[in-house]
Amino acid sequence: MHFVRAALLYGPMVSRSENYVEYCRETARHLHNLQDLALRGKNKQTITRRIQERIVREVELRPDDDVLDIGCGDGTLLQMAKTRGAHSAIGLLATEEEAAIVRRLGIEVRQGFTDQLPVPDESASVVVCNNVLLVVPREKIPASLRELHRVAKPGARIFVGEIPLEPGPPPEPEFPTARETLAYLYRQHGFRTWFGMLRHMLYWKLTSKPMVIRGGSTISFFAEPSEFAALAAEAGLELVRCWHHDDWPANRYNYLFRKATAVPTAATAETVPHPSPAA
Ligand SMILES: C[S@@+](CC[C@H](N)C(=O)[O-])C[C@H]1O[C@@H](n2cnc3c(N)ncnc32)[C@H](O)[C@@H]1O
Repeated sequence: MHFVRAALLYGPMVSRSENYVEYCRETARHLHNLQDLALRGKNKQTITRRIQERIVREVELRPDDDVLDIGCGDGTLLQMAKTRGAHSAIGLLATEEEAAIVRRLGIEVRQGFTDQLPVPDESASVVVCNNVLLVVPREKIPASLRELHRVAKPGARIFVGEIPLEPGPPPEPEFPTARETLAYLYRQHGFRTWFGMLRHMLYWKLTSKPMVIRGGSTISFFAEPSEFAALAAEAGLELVRCWHHDDWPANRYNYLFRKATAVPTAATAETVPHPSPAA
């Protein structure tokens, strides 16, 4: 026990970006309800359904579509695509642990990250990436947008949803050791929070599991619509429209892009559409 305590108090913490992937993995390992894979919290399946129905409408899903859902959560959108007779529906998830669960629904799902999609060039006529890029480190956003463009067929509709305008509530600071984290929690939040975290940390140490602290609520990437549209344009994505999210109108935007059907001429390539958010 003494050894456990010493290791715990001096052990390294997992960094925030690794942290999110670990959070996904841990959610899958301790899953009680499949819908929790959408990572919106408990009993949020009605919201998830409503969000995915809106995406289906925005991309005008058709029976001849090949759908790719990057960060497909609990697979709700892919099931909707199959019900509507989509030609194919493939999902990607951050971890194999999540993918294995969603595959049991009879959906084709693989592990894959936004900046290295395990999908052939020009294979999807609809690409969806909803509520995912906000947890991707900012330095990986340009490569991720280039990947969305690469896998899209000419003329494809590309939906990117829930991009925050701001970082949101400040995340808890990261500390190099568990001891410093605990000291901070005690000072900032009092005994109950301190004790709760101590119990979690003991469990993680005893079971050799990684420490996952607030992994689910961290925002890594946020952008104003003009900045995001410019980043997407650099990756070759043409903005069709953007609008504020129904559930977080003050802070999150949805974007619909398309991939050009023909190689743009020098004159059209220089035109970056200025996004005027529509309600
Ligand atoms: C908040 S959930 C959103 C799920 C779903 N798109 C929805 O809107 O209900 C985030 C999803 O992104 C996936 N994810 C996290 N980081 C990712 C990354 N770097 N690349 C691809 N997927 C990622 C997770 O596996 C998880 O399914």
